[in-house]
Amino acid sequence: MENILITGGAGFIGSHVVRLFVNKYPNYQIFNLDKLTYAGNLENLTDIEGAPNYSFLKGDIVDSDFLANIFNKHNFDAVIHLAAESHVDRSISNPLEFIKTNIVGTVELLNAARTSWGTNFEGKRFYHISTDEVYGSLGEKGLFEETTPYDPRSPYSSSKASSDHLVRAYFHTYGLPVVISNCSNNYGSHQFPEKLIPLFINNIKNNKPLPVYGKGENIRDWLWVNDHAKAIDLIFHKGKNGETYNIGGHNEWTNIALIKELCHIMDEQLSRSKGTSERLITFVKDRAGHDARYAIDASKIKDELGWIPSITFEEGLRQTVNWYLENVEWLNRVTSGDYQNYYQNQYQKR
Ligand code: NAD
Ligand code: TYD
Repeated sequence: MENILITGGAGFIGSHVVRLFVNKYPNYQIFNLDKLTYAGNLENLTDIEGAPNYSFLKGDIVDSDFLANIFNKHNFDAVIHLAAESHVDRSISNPLEFIKTNIVGTVELLNAARTSWGTNFEGKRFYHISTDEVYGSLGEKGLFEETTPYDPRSPYSSSKASSDHLVRAYFHTYGLPVVISNCSNNYGSHQFPEKLIPLFINNIKNNKPLPVYGKGENIRDWLWVNDHAKAIDLIFHKGKNGETYNIGGHNEWTNIALIKELCHIMDEQLSRSKGTSERLITFVKDRAGHDARYAIDASKIKDELGWIPSITFEEGLRQTVNWYLENVEWLNRVTSGDYQNYYQNQYQKR
């Protein structure tokens, strides 16, 4: 039996990772630690919340006493760390929250693991989940490699870059068995509708304007969240200590091309005449310091661990659109804020 702490498991990617591990590894005890910020939603996990190998721990990774307590109590063998403030626009209006959770929180977690594990790291692992945004912004050519120098440009990416450096410092200084992965933009079910794809699906559905930043020419590489979760599973079990793995979809889109594709799929799914949703496109003031292009060279994870994305973007996007259209209740509760009462109702009364 292995006790695994997953942080940020009530969020978008974390909920997919928790679900995968709970279902695939009945011998692991999965502990999901989450503060339940606006981005944390336990309704993402209703299908597995009763599983015998799953427990939820409400808490803040910045709180060292809380961390010491749970490490003492549960003797975690491994940590998969996803908890973070994750939205670039929020980091522009409130950088400090990103410094607290993403940097201080990561160091608190590293310290808790170090204290708990002492000097015997046999069978232990600290896996830090990061983003390709730490590498900065690309021009027309080139790809981010694991050796690309860090050049973060938003408060969000700077806080993630800082946390990556600290995780590496704990490997070099204390020998903590760490592994890091840096992934491109994820899309899929259960994503909070402030990020591009779920926000635009919801707006198209409700005939609301689609706010495209600048000219919509910025480029992102999109990966289906379930493929990210599979890569995390592989790196967690087969990755080498001290190594970094880039994860990407080989799937670059300008925002405007992606939005038009989304409009096209939504017109079909909502039986609207062709071109209806595109009329909602509204160009708005650009994001401050908007990174031009992200693109990943994912050959290391392919060559060393045999990972490649399992589905095409066309398939993934259609599946994603269908999920949001079929899960109207989830979307309504997220947009109304009702999901925040779920913890109270589900856990506090027990
Ligand atoms: P998210 O915002 O959907 O979820 C973050 C989760 O962390 C939430 O459940 C939130 O409640 C929790 N959390 C926040 N602060 C906390 C704290 N102080 N203590 C405990 N829990 C806290 O984020 P996401 O999109 O699922 O991203 C997860 C991780 O993956 C992040 O580390 C992010 O940097 C990284 N990442 C995201 C993407 C992407 O496209 N979304 C791409 C690459 C890497
Ligand atoms: P986002 O989903 O916020 O992810 P990130 O900034 O981490 O890449 O945004 C994806 C792209 O879409 C990014 O170039 C900004 C752009 N965007 C818009 O044009 N309008 C919006 O309302 C949002 C949220 C994003």
